[in-house]
Amino acid sequence: MYIYIGIGVSLILLYTLVIKPLISLLLIKIKFGKQAKIIFYPIVGDIMEIEGSFKKYNDHYESLRRYFTENKDLKFILLNVFKTPLILIGDPEINKMIHQDHENYKKIDFLNNNSRLMGQGLLYQSGQKWKSQRKLLGKPFDYDKLKARIPMMNQVVKQKLKNTYNNPLDLTRSIAGEVVIQTFFGQEAQNAQLNNREAQAEIVELFNDVAEAIYGSVYGFLKWMILGEKQWKLFPNKLERDINRRIDELTQFARKVIDNRITSIKQEGFKKNQDDFDFLDIHLQEFLGSKNESGITKDEIISQFITLFFAGTDTTSSVAAMCLFYLAQNPDVYDALIKELENVVGDGDGDVLDQHLPKLQELNSFIWEVLRVRNPASGPLVRVAKQDLVLKDLHIKKGWILMPANFVQQQTDKYFENFKEFDHKRFLKAQAIKEDNGYVNIPFSAGPRNCIGQHMALMEIKIILCHILRTFKVITVPDKIKDLKWRAKFLYFYEPLDCIQLVKK
Ligand code: HEM
Repeated sequence: MYIYIGIGVSLILLYTLVIKPLISLLLIKIKFGKQAKIIFYPIVGDIMEIEGSFKKYNDHYESLRRYFTENKDLKFILLNVFKTPLILIGDPEINKMIHQDHENYKKIDFLNNNSRLMGQGLLYQSGQKWKSQRKLLGKPFDYDKLKARIPMMNQVVKQKLKNTYNNPLDLTRSIAGEVVIQTFFGQEAQNAQLNNREAQAEIVELFNDVAEAIYGSVYGFLKWMILGEKQWKLFPNKLERDINRRIDELTQFARKVIDNRITSIKQEGFKKNQDDFDFLDIHLQEFLGSKNESGITKDEIISQFITLFFAGTDTTSSVAAMCLFYLAQNPDVYDALIKELENVVGDGDGDVLDQHLPKLQELNSFIWEVLRVRNPASGPLVRVAKQDLVLKDLHIKKGWILMPANFVQQQTDKYFENFKEFDHKRFLKAQAIKEDNGYVNIPFSAGPRNCIGQHMALMEIKIILCHILRTFKVITVPDKIKDLKWRAKFLYFYEPLDCIQLVKK
């Protein structure tokens, strides 16, 4: 009797976990032939491929890139996450459909903390809430409005450059975090402290620890899979308790700044003119206004701050540090950029002004080339279909996971001449991309849910690089660079972090 039950349960598990997802993928493979490749690891899924690539090439994404360069017809890689099909898409036409039609997809909160951290912010909102938040933030993120923040960015970079850091990423993180904090809360949050350290270092560390609590052990991962957000409440271990305490401290800090500002506005009104509003003023104008059409709440404002910090700090600082990495590898590019800088901005320690930025064309092209060869935000673009969908002739079932993989599109000769070459002047050419539908080279994503902070990021990276290059040389550290690896955690980045170094000129 028990034997029959055992066989029955095993057959059901075999069908659900292995046969069903495999058949779904096989049907796509049969339909698309050479345009699709199956990589199916029962239950464990895509992680095996990505970790295998890391073992073989010291790079989590290299094997995926190679499949596309070796087979020019390839459009889809058919993988699985546990029992769910995951389709990695390297076809700009289909990726365009996914990006434009964003309401049909759900984003995945990799930090499993939607209700306490970013759930009410722009990154994870949808529907009418997303629309009204995007409208509210659209104006201050406009290039012309952002110009007013350039003096603050210069001042933050100069101040941070006086300190010493373990590695270039620690420096650029400290800068990018402070810039987001001051952009949101203004000068009154300058040099804020949390958990007895620099606020931005603490918030970045908090995100890292949350990721560690979920992905760092089988216990954490299973807890996430089974309990979802209840992970943090039910039988929290030491790390989870510590995280709970620090999330409370972070939200209390934000609430206190918000409450103080509300009190001051109620007593004296807005003391600045609209052009000088920080993001908190912009949100409070809506919150305290007689209409509050968007129905914005205090919790939403806190969530928006955490969202912008999360979306704007590690991304910007990683790209700035990767630029330094490529300058250390390419001294001729360093020399060329210094020359442009001296011509445009001068060789002293004067501020980078808004009229300088459009003239730094070689620097701009260089940053875009770094974003092409090492797109940092590849992983976060994963989407879950909310319903059955047809993308050209690709049929998707509700619940399947899609990954528009522009990091593979950026690395094929179908779209880029000499794609393997690091050519810092590539984006100065009239037609840098061979066939472009606007969805080939999109490190900031594209369509309605593209990166709202992209102008701010580029502006900031240029200012950071200008000040660093005028003061420091960038060198590789031979003992460390021999162990170079490219790891995809939330972002894709090099390690060891100290494989490059800044040396005062
Ligand atoms: C080089 C730096 C940056 C890169 C590479 C980058 C990349 C991206 C990407 C790929 C997305 C789409 C994510 C998705 O759809 O899942 C995105 C969205 C977003 N980014 Fe950025 N980002 C950068 C800097 C910033 C900055 C500085 C801010 C703000 C301070 C910011 C705020 C946002 C927000 C709020 C969204 C969500 C927009 C929406 O869904 O409507 N990002 N970013």
